[in-house]
Amino acid sequence: MEIIPIAKSLGAEVIGAQLVNMDVKTYSSIEKAFSRYLVLCFRDQQLGPCDLVNLARKFGGVGETPYLSGLEDYPDVVPIVKEANEKSQHTFGSGWHTDFTFQKKPPARTLLYALDVPPKGGDTLFANLQDAYESLSTGMQESLSRLRALHSSIRSYGPNASLKNHLENMTITNEKEEPGFESHPVIRKHPVTGKPSLWINPTYTIRFDGMTDEESQPLLDYLNDLITEARFTCRVNWKRNSLVMWDNRCTQHSASSDYAGHRREMWRITTAGDTPANFEQV
Ligand code: SIN
Repeated sequence: MEIIPIAKSLGAEVIGAQLVNMDVKTYSSIEKAFSRYLVLCFRDQQLGPCDLVNLARKFGGVGETPYLSGLEDYPDVVPIVKEANEKSQHTFGSGWHTDFTFQKKPPARTLLYALDVPPKGGDTLFANLQDAYESLSTGMQESLSRLRALHSSIRSYGPNASLKNHLENMTITNEKEEPGFESHPVIRKHPVTGKPSLWINPTYTIRFDGMTDEESQPLLDYLNDLITEARFTCRVNWKRNSLVMWDNRCTQHSASSDYAGHRREMWRITTAGDTPANFEQV
């Protein structure tokens, strides 16, 4: 197995690994590379929905996916589809985010498999929240480590959210009532490596716990802009039959909406996560 980094901060292509029926040695090499690179791309994988479920089980168990409709026989496998003739420019997953941080136990990882890709564009960008944290001054690190933030699905899946109107070929069910909030630490300790990350995102993080929107937004904007600086990011260029697995505990991502007139279809599944733990300064 060969690991080829995609960018300085995060992301790598894994060459020479077949994910179906992988042996113990391959599994442990993948896990080691995953802790180091946070986003792994495997090319030329022949995967059906059952394989994706088996992979999610292998990498920690299947996560819960509200709001999005999955395949009929595999409800945990969600097709992310944009047809060539769609009127809206919007792509599902465009806009920086970390998956489902509004959950009490947000997914640990997401697996995304490419079935159909546009000839150009449709890349996914990723940002490293550990490197973003390390770039902060010690004063800011210490201040943020005492804060928690409230996360909610309100903007994407609340009763008035318009996301579903822009996705003509996906079935999204909004909440009937205003969704609640989950409070998570702003500086999250990674459960495997113990590394701290700046664990906020502009889609689901609404405000700091115990502060108003007005008080929170300037600092959230500053931090979210910092996170997506080019030096903390990588770009995955999809090919048909590529599988990308990312660490949802320390990254953000954003799908590019730059392939109007072409079809893109991905299958997505998440793995079960834990309750985010605060990183204690020593
Ligand atoms: C997602 O955000 O779950 C999907 C990203 C993509 O389709 O590139």
